[in-house]
Amino acid sequence: MLRRTITAILTCVCVTTAAFACGSDPVVETSDPIGRGQRIYAENCAGCHGLNGEGQPHWQSTNPDGTLPAPPLNGDGHTWHHGDGTLYKQVKLGGAYLEEQGLAGFKSGMPAFEDTLTHQEIIDVLTYVKNLWRDQEIHGTTKRDAQAMVSENDPFPAAPDRE
Ligand code: HEC
Repeated sequence: MLRRTITAILTCVCVTTAAFACGSDPVVETSDPIGRGQRIYAENCAGCHGLNGEGQPHWQSTNPDGTLPAPPLNGDGHTWHHGDGTLYKQVKLGGAYLEEQGLAGFKSGMPAFEDTLTHQEIIDVLTYVKNLWRDQEIHGTTKRDAQAMVSENDPFPAAPDRE
């Protein structure tokens, strides 16, 4: 009898846990910036930069319309050379950022996300992107650590007062 009661209780706990796990998506999401970033990436970036950040084929050759194909963000390209502040501006301002850098007349294929993504969403999506190259090595260190060093002098901007 006792054993049956225990089994019944355990079954009940398991079913409850499973039901909770299924319905608890948002709870998991808010505490996991990489998970949140992955979702933002899938919805806003994967169409051009590839499902896994692999970029478009022949990304170094200009398209017939003068734009560049989307480069890989998975560590195969040079994304990890840029500090957090630069990556942030590239996503927020899109091609306008490159113009700001003196590349006037350059025809960019990178949209601006300043009206689509919040400050925190831009940071989350870049946290996801940086996590794609966490184990890749370069000159005896990881690309992730190399980028973290560059970011010391080029950090993410502070959160705006309100969005
Ligand atoms: C419509 C296609 C398109 C979409 C959508 C897009 N990108 Fe891009 N992205 C590009 C292109 C093309 C470039 C190359 C630079 C240029 O043309 O301005 C680029 C460049 C970049 C760079 C600079 C990469 C480097 O190695 O210097 C980053 C970072 C980046 N994109 C992140 C993102 C993120 C994050 C998203 C989603 C929030 C996104 N992009 C959505 C097309 C796109």
